[in-house]
Amino acid sequence: ERRDDDAAQQSPDILEQYKVDDSSGYMTSDVGGPIGDQFSLKAGIRGSTLLEDFIFRQKIQHFDHERVPERAVHARGAGAHGTFTSYGDWSNITAASFLGGAGKQTPVFVRFSTVAGSRGSADTARDVHGFATRFYTDEGNFDIVGNNIPVFFIQDAIRFPDLIHSVKPSPDNEIPQAATAHDSAWDFFSSQPSTMHTLLWAMAGHGIPRSYRHMEGFGVHTFRFVKDDGSTKLIKWHFKTLQGKASLVWEEAQVLSGKNADFHRQDLWDAIASGNGPSWELAVQIVDEDKAQAFGFDLLDPTKIIPEELVPLTKLGVLKLDRNPTNYFAETEQIMFQPGHIVRGVDFTEDPLLQGRLFSYLDTQLNRHGGPNFEQLPINMPRTPIHNNNRDGAGQGFIHRNIHHYTPSALNGGFPRQANQTAGRGFFTAPGRSATGHLVRELPSSFDDFWTQPRLFYNSLSPAERQFVVNAMRFETSHLTSDAVKRNALAQLNRVSNDLASRVASALGLAAPAPDPKYYHENVTKGVSVFDGPALP
Ligand code: HEM
Repeated sequence: ERRDDDAAQQSPDILEQYKVDDSSGYMTSDVGGPIGDQFSLKAGIRGSTLLEDFIFRQKIQHFDHERVPERAVHARGAGAHGTFTSYGDWSNITAASFLGGAGKQTPVFVRFSTVAGSRGSADTARDVHGFATRFYTDEGNFDIVGNNIPVFFIQDAIRFPDLIHSVKPSPDNEIPQAATAHDSAWDFFSSQPSTMHTLLWAMAGHGIPRSYRHMEGFGVHTFRFVKDDGSTKLIKWHFKTLQGKASLVWEEAQVLSGKNADFHRQDLWDAIASGNGPSWELAVQIVDEDKAQAFGFDLLDPTKIIPEELVPLTKLGVLKLDRNPTNYFAETEQIMFQPGHIVRGVDFTEDPLLQGRLFSYLDTQLNRHGGPNFEQLPINMPRTPIHNNNRDGAGQGFIHRNIHHYTPSALNGGFPRQANQTAGRGFFTAPGRSATGHLVRELPSSFDDFWTQPRLFYNSLSPAERQFVVNAMRFETSHLTSDAVKRNALAQLNRVSNDLASRVASALGLAAPAPDPKYYHENVTKGVSVFDGPALP
C-alpha cells in the first residue's frame, strides 16, 4: 500500500519549491507559447517536414540531449530522502553544527550503488556497494561518500584508474562476464596485494547484500573531528543498519539478476512507499592524534580497519529514510556527492587515497554536468545562502547584483564579509595540522602488511561463512583462462590463509599450495615490512 501522501510519516520536502505541477494550464513550448497539436509541420499533407518547424525542433532537440554521461563508477544506484537526528550535543568532540544538540534534525539524501556496472546493469551483481550520504546542514552540505565495506582495494589514488579498468567490462567486446574480464580483474588483484582485504569482504556476503536496507556503511578513510578550540581527534565513520545485516546467497543473486534486475531499487522504493523506511545509527571510532600508528598499522592506510574490540563505536545519532524521490534524474542522477563537501568541525587526513578523491569527484562532475554550476541544481543546493565571487558559466541560475565582484574592494562595502570576521566561525583546516618533508613518490613502510587483516577477517568467520567465501572464490576463479593469473591468485590467497588457498585450488584442479609461513603473523605486524613486491612465483 502506498503512503506517499501521508505527510506525517515523512521528512519535510526541501525541494518543494522546484516541483512542477502539470495538472493545470496548457501545453507550451519551452518559451511559453501554447501548443495545440502533436504533428510536425509539412509542405503539403504528404510532403516533407519543414526546417521552419521550431516546435518539432525544440522537442526533438531536447530529447536528443536528455542523457548526461553516467557516473564513471557507481553508475547504477537508487536514492531516497530522510532525516538525521542527533542523539546529543557532541560539541565535546566536534564543532559540526548538525551534531550540536539532542534531537537536532538535518535533512539527508542517501544514494546506494554498485561500483562496476553501467546504469542499466543488474542490482544483484557481486560488487562493493556505495553508501553516499548528503547532510543538508545549517552550515552547508556535508557528504560521507562511503561504501558498505570498511576498507578499499588500493592505498594511493593514482592507482584508481587501473583498478577500475581491470574490473570494468572487457574493452574489446564490452562483455562484463567475459573470461578476459575475469583474467583482468584477478590479474590486478593478485599483482596488487593491497586488494586482498577488500576482496575477501566482497567475496563474503557484503558483495551480495540482501537489500540496501540490510547493508552497513563506512567512511573508510580516517577523518578528523575539530572542536571549536581547534583541538582534533582522528575518527572513522560507521552506519549501523537497524534492519540487521543480511545477504543473498549466490544462487539467489544469479536468479534475481534475470528475474528482476531492479531488485534492490524496488525493495528500497517499496519499503519507503509502504511507510517502512530503513534506519541506520551513525557512529564513530575516536582515536587520539598520537595513536595514528599505535595499533600496528597506519590509520592513514585505507586497507585497514580498527577492530571494534580496540576502539568501540560511539553512536552519534540516527538516520531514517522516509521519502522517495519525485524524479529519478533530477534527484538521484544529478546529486553530486564529494568527499570534499565537509563542514566546520570535520577535516581530512593525509590518507593518499582520500587526497586523490578530493580532486577526482569535482573534476568528473564538471564533465558530467558540462559546467561549474552543478551545485545550483535543486538536489545540490545547500539550505544556507550562498555569497561569494564565483560568477557566470553555463547554466548560471543566480542573478548577482554586486558589480564589485572581487575581494578586497573598498567600493563594495566589504561584502561579502568573510565568516571569521563576523560570527567567529572560520572553518576547515584544523589549526594543528602541519606539513613538512622531502618530496617522495612512495608509500610509508607502515602501509606494507597486506595479509594480516584479511587473515583476521577470514579466521573470524564461522565455518558456514568461510564456505561462502570459498564458494565465491571458486566461482569467480573458475572463469580464469590464464594459468599465470590462477597461480598468482593462489599465491596471494595462500599468504592470507593456506586453508582458503587449498580449498580454492582443489576446485581449479590444482595442487594445494604449501603453507607460506613468512606471511602468517598472529599479531599485527607493527612496523614490519613484509611486502616484497608484486612479482610472484
Ligand atoms: C563515485 C565511494 C575511491 C572516483 C563514488 C560513489 C561512491 C564512492 C559511494 C557514488 C557516489 C554517488 O552515489 O553519486 C568511494 C569510496 C572510495 C572511493 C568509499 C574509497 C575509499 C575513489 C577513488 C577515486 C574515486 C580513489 C578516484 C581517484 C570516483 C568517481 C565517482 C565516484 C569519479 C563518480 C562520481 C560522480 O560522477 O558523481 N565513489 N570511492 N573513488 N568515485 Fe569513488
